Amino acid sequence: MRGLRRRTCLINAMSAAACLLLMWSICASAQESSCVSCHGDLEDERLTPPVQDWLASVHKDAGVGCESCHGGDPRVNDIEAMATSDYIGVPFVKQIPELCASCHSNPDKMRKYNLRVDEYDLFKRSGHGRALYERGDTKVATCVSCHGAHKVLSKTDVDSLVHYTNIARTCGACHSDADYMKGYDLPVDQVERYNESYHAQILYGKVEGKNPALAPTCASCHTHSPLLPGAAEVPELCGRCHSVTAKYFKDSPHYVALTEVGVPRCVDCHGNHDIRYPGIEMLSGTEEGHCGFCHDASSTQYQTAQQIKGLLESASEDLELVERELADIEHSGRNLDDLKTLRDEAQTSLTEVLPITHTLSVEKIEGKTARVDENAEKVLQKVSEFKGELKARKRNLGIILAVILVNVGFLWLKRRSIGRS
Ligand code: HEC
Ligand code: HEC
Ligand code: HEC
Ligand code: HEC
Ligand code: HEC
Ligand code: HEC
Ligand code: HEC
Ligand code: HEC
Ligand code: HEC
Repeated sequence: MRGLRRRTCLINAMSAAACLLLMWSICASAQESSCVSCHGDLEDERLTPPVQDWLASVHKDAGVGCESCHGGDPRVNDIEAMATSDYIGVPFVKQIPELCASCHSNPDKMRKYNLRVDEYDLFKRSGHGRALYERGDTKVATCVSCHGAHKVLSKTDVDSLVHYTNIARTCGACHSDADYMKGYDLPVDQVERYNESYHAQILYGKVEGKNPALAPTCASCHTHSPLLPGAAEVPELCGRCHSVTAKYFKDSPHYVALTEVGVPRCVDCHGNHDIRYPGIEMLSGTEEGHCGFCHDASSTQYQTAQQIKGLLESASEDLELVERELADIEHSGRNLDDLKTLRDEAQTSLTEVLPITHTLSVEKIEGKTARVDENAEKVLQKVSEFKGELKARKRNLGIILAVILVNVGFLWLKRRSIGRS
């Protein structure tokens, strides 16, 4: 009896829940935006794609509907939906940043999503924003050139126009288009040159063992809103990632010159878009960015460069010799752990000296290369001792073998002479 009552209760509760669910879904469908349903059914190549794109966006899930940007009343089920006073139709280029900023500059609206709120401020100060607001130039990028108007995705989504692997292409849509950029005093080779850089090799996953997400792309150096960095800002810009190198650079006479005459910046030696893996040849070359490009071969600065080069060269030659010698005795059975530790220490010192070259201080550089030379010498000394031992051992072994052979020969002769007699 009691079991039956319990079952009826359960059925009642379940049907109540079902009722609620039904009501909720009716409510939800009544709330379906007329903009979405009508535009979705229009089958017009201009009026319908915004619906498909918006359905895939982060805005849809956040409740940012068509009316949030275009105005209108999505509860009205006919063309009158677009007849309200706040309906703006398609926004003008100049209206767009402010439109997006109505939410994206509002900390109360963005806090929940943990998004920054400075994009509009940065945009206004950027080269793009200044050209738009000061000269009315509508060919520049606005928010939708880089994010899309409808298929707005999180920057972590691989399909996003601003996912780090897509940014160069997004900027290149204008900056690599010579026709589009005609009339501006700007080159159109940034993407091409960037794609050849060491940074891009890492970004596109072509350098083993390096994390692509850490390599800079266009937006890392031009920040959210591209503005050409001033001379003195360049070390800060590169130093955001290369902090140790930038610290040493700031210790150098070059930094003094930079603050006084505006050269040399990091990019004067390394380039901005086509940064290659730097090598020792920079110290004696005369190409753009090499020491000889700015310093005459007879100058004291150039002589300093040659001194630095000499120190680096002899350190890396020492290290190469160590490698060869260690390889030589690799299979001799001796435990090489202590020698390999010395070798590794020397290797580390050589890696550490490269950022220090930016101080231009021969003394500081020598402090490190001396460690390389010291360790190398220790290893070479030990290897040569060991080789000596090996040789002696071999010689002794030879003598013992010879004695044994002579003895065997003697015994054999003896046996033969006994057999004959
Ligand atoms: C009953 C169908 C219907 C509804 C509902 C509707 N639209 Fe439209 N919409 C149209 C048609 C048809 C056009 C093209 C004719 C025109 O420009 O008036 C259009 C044009 C537009 C345009 C482009 C205007 C231009 O100048 O090119 C925008 C933007 C737009 N609608 C947004 C909205 C928004 C936002 C809503 C909801 C508040 C909405 N629409 C509701 C049918 C509809
Ligand atoms: C986040 C803001 C935002 C939302 C949400 C939004 N739009 Fe738009 N829409 C824009 C902007 C900005 C443009 C102008 C695009 C441009 O200049 O590239 C635009 C352009 C359009 C156009 C004109 C397209 C053309 O090629 O001329 C239509 C139609 C349109 N939107 C309809 C809709 C509909 C329907 C929805 C809802 C499904 C919607 N929009 C949601 C911002 C938005
Ligand atoms: C020139 C291209 C460009 C323009 C113009 C631009 N953005 Fe961005 N935006 C980007 C890039 C690239 C990123 C990703 C940066 C990163 O990876 O940190 C980004 C990131 C964002 C983010 C995510 C920020 C976060 O906290 O993660 C938002 C939101 C955003 N932009 C909004 C806007 C708004 C609003 C405007 C207009 C006022 C705008 N953007 C203009 C390129 C642009
Ligand atoms: C009505 C408020 C509102 C307007 C207007 C608006 N957004 Fe958003 N936007 C949001 C909210 C809320 C989110 C967070 C969605 C989420 O993270 O799930 C968001 C997310 C974004 C993101 C993704 C950020 C990231 O990397 O996670 C971008 C990019 C973006 N919006 C760009 C724009 C652009 C461009 C415009 C103007 C065309 C615009 N928004 C207009 C409210 C708005
Ligand atoms: C819609 C086309 C378009 C897109 C997309 C675009 N730009 Fe631009 N950009 C321009 C135009 C046009 C100018 C020239 C404005 C001027 O007169 O200075 C410009 C100028 C610049 C400048 C020079 C600013 C100055 O101070 O002189 C930089 C740097 C720049 N863009 C970087 C970028 C980066 C980085 C991206 C991608 C994240 C990007 N742009 C995306 C059109 C675009
Ligand atoms: C490693 C940092 C870095 C990266 C990555 C980078 N830039 Fe630059 N870019 C700079 C610096 C620094 C300058 C200006 C200083 C100089 O060299 O005169 C500059 C200048 C520019 C200019 C002005 C014209 C010119 O070519 O000098 C444009 C446009 C530009 N960058 C666009 C881009 C685009 C598009 C990308 C991505 C393909 C990109 N940048 C990637 C650092 C960078
Ligand atoms: C967003 C971070 C970031 C920024 C900004 C950046 N770089 Fe890099 N850069 C890297 C990473 C990561 C590597 C690879 C480091 C490695 O090999 O472990 C790298 C490699 C290099 C290398 C090759 C040597 C080496 O240590 O691998 C040079 C040279 C270089 N960057 C110069 C610059 C200059 C000059 C600037 C400023 C115009 C700059 N970078 C801005 C992240 C950055
Ligand atoms: C883009 C031009 C430029 C390049 C490239 C350049 N320098 Fe300099 N260098 C300067 C300027 C400017 C000064 C300050 C004025 C002066 O002493 O000539 C300077 C000063 C120096 C000084 C300090 C001289 C003193 O007063 O004590 C040394 C040392 C030096 N450079 C070495 C080098 C080395 C080594 C390289 C190559 C790695 C190099 N420079 C590449 C422009 C450059
Ligand atoms: C005067 C020219 C010059 C300037 C200015 C300069 N570098 Fe270098 N940089 C070099 C040379 C030369 C080497 C390579 C030495 C070698 O490999 O023998 C180098 C090596 C590097 C390396 C690889 C070794 C390391 O430090 O990890 C990085 C990264 C680097 N530079 C970044 C920078 C940054 C960031 C700045 C600005 C703060 C800068 N450079 C300024 C000439 C310069």
